[in-house]
Amino acid sequence: MKRIAVVPGSFDPVTLGHLDVIERAARIFDELHVLVVHNPDKSALLPMPQRVSLLERSIADGGLPDNIVVAQWNVGLLVDYCTDVGASVLVKGIRSQVDVAYETPMAIMNRSLAGVETVFLLPDPAHAHVSSSLVRQVAALGGDVSPYVPHVVATFLQEG
Ligand code: PNS
Repeated sequence: MKRIAVVPGSFDPVTLGHLDVIERAARIFDELHVLVVHNPDKSALLPMPQRVSLLERSIADGGLPDNIVVAQWNVGLLVDYCTDVGASVLVKGIRSQVDVAYETPMAIMNRSLAGVETVFLLPDPAHAHVSSSLVRQVAALGGDVSPYVPHVVATFLQEG
């Protein structure tokens, strides 16, 4: 049976830390859906289609495995998307104990709602300090974000 997993996130924008987790997950599962999800708790910088486009281009430019699908999910539960595509696992990257504390209740809720398990992967520690929110802040204040994001994202943020 095909093992299908979903990596959900805001990806506002995608960072090198995200790409690292996506690549590791794509090597574990048969099919990996990278899902751009609207997070009502966060005010967005980029519109969803822009985030999807930057993800697709970053994955292609990075030479990641070809079992990756990028999609977006605007309405309804994340586990409804999982059910729709036959995915039984969510994958999240964990940078610190703060991430564990944030992710644990959601993981248990998603298992309770639909039996979808969550797998936590550890990214390269080189990316431990990288988050989309800090990238947005550095970019907004005129800093160089190229060490933290894929080339297409750095170019987009610096031109935009
Ligand atoms: O990159 P982010 O913003 O940390 O990602 C958070 C995200 C989008 C994964 C999270 O907000 C989420 O899982 N949203 C789905 C909403 C949902 O299904 N909630 C109920 C069960 S926890």
